[in-house]
Amino acid sequence: MPNTLDKSYLETSIYKPGIFAGKVAFVTGGAGSICRVQVEALVLLGANAAIIGRNVEKTVSAAREIEQLRPGAKVLGIGGVDVRKVHDLKAAVDRTVAELGRVDLVIAGAAGNFLSNINNLSTNAFRTVVEIDLVGSYATAKATYEQLVKNQGQIIFVSATLHYTGLPLQIHASAAKAGVDALARALAVELGPLGVRSNVIAPGPIAGTEGMDRLLPPGQLDAALKKIPLQRMGTTQEIADATVFLFSPAASYITGQVTVVDGGNWHMGSYREMYPEKLNELNSDIASGKL
Ligand code: HXC
Repeated sequence: MPNTLDKSYLETSIYKPGIFAGKVAFVTGGAGSICRVQVEALVLLGANAAIIGRNVEKTVSAAREIEQLRPGAKVLGIGGVDVRKVHDLKAAVDRTVAELGRVDLVIAGAAGNFLSNINNLSTNAFRTVVEIDLVGSYATAKATYEQLVKNQGQIIFVSATLHYTGLPLQIHASAAKAGVDALARALAVELGPLGVRSNVIAPGPIAGTEGMDRLLPPGQLDAALKKIPLQRMGTTQEIADATVFLFSPAASYITGQVTVVDGGNWHMGSYREMYPEKLNELNSDIASGKL
């Protein structure tokens, strides 16, 4: 079970209870390890929310649990929605507006990833990740556009830091996330005059997340921790806190920006040395003429 928030967040957080009262969040990937905690913080601080996901049971049960965090909170779990299908996303937005009245705070968080070198990465596999991460983020912005403009809302894209350097085994995700950053910036410029802010949060190594489970090689935790300037993994609460800041009036003049929450990690360069076996595999494919 990933780290989740409970009511003690309201006592320990620097944020004021009720700052999101009357607001409605719409979050793709909202039952996942990072985005769920973003939703929990928003709900604890007064928002209602709709979380969107592919898995019906996981999405609906996460929504029920998040709803318990604040008396009177309403959290819709809309499962069976793939961000690659814009019509399904639009239907989810329509249902959110019908049941919760509006959408103000959008998080485009759904993502897909795995480790693969070029030799094992088909064009369809590359396309799949670009479609989920990048096209899915655009589709989320498209589907919520009318509500964002109507309510002078805001959108946050959950990106990454892996494309700041040349990270092996991550060609697909790096290309997709670079696109997400570009999308967020262009959207900030297009929608700024309408009062809509668009920003990016780029999580680094965050403990207890699906991303870390998929990407951190077994046995490499100690080496990875030593390499992080702050000498530890981040927490999902630290991503949630950055989210609350960006959505709050404290960030009312911030748009088109990437907020990196990674303990300084990306400044240390790529993780190349962390995948010796996978890189040997790639090198032997090259040597044997397979590539
Ligand atoms: C090589 C792979 C592969 C792998 C799938 N493919 N897994 N190729 N290595 N490990 C290929 C398939 O063979 C296929 O290509 C193509 O990708 C599509 O695969 P499908 O299984 O049909 O796609 P789909 O069911 O849509 O699943 C999407 C997925 C899957 C991305 C492949 O892993 C998924 O659903 N993931 C969602 C959850 C997730 O990944 N969460 C982690 C997010 S973490 P062919 O050619 O055979 O048709 C994250 C953080 C990043 O994003 C930053 C961290 C720092």
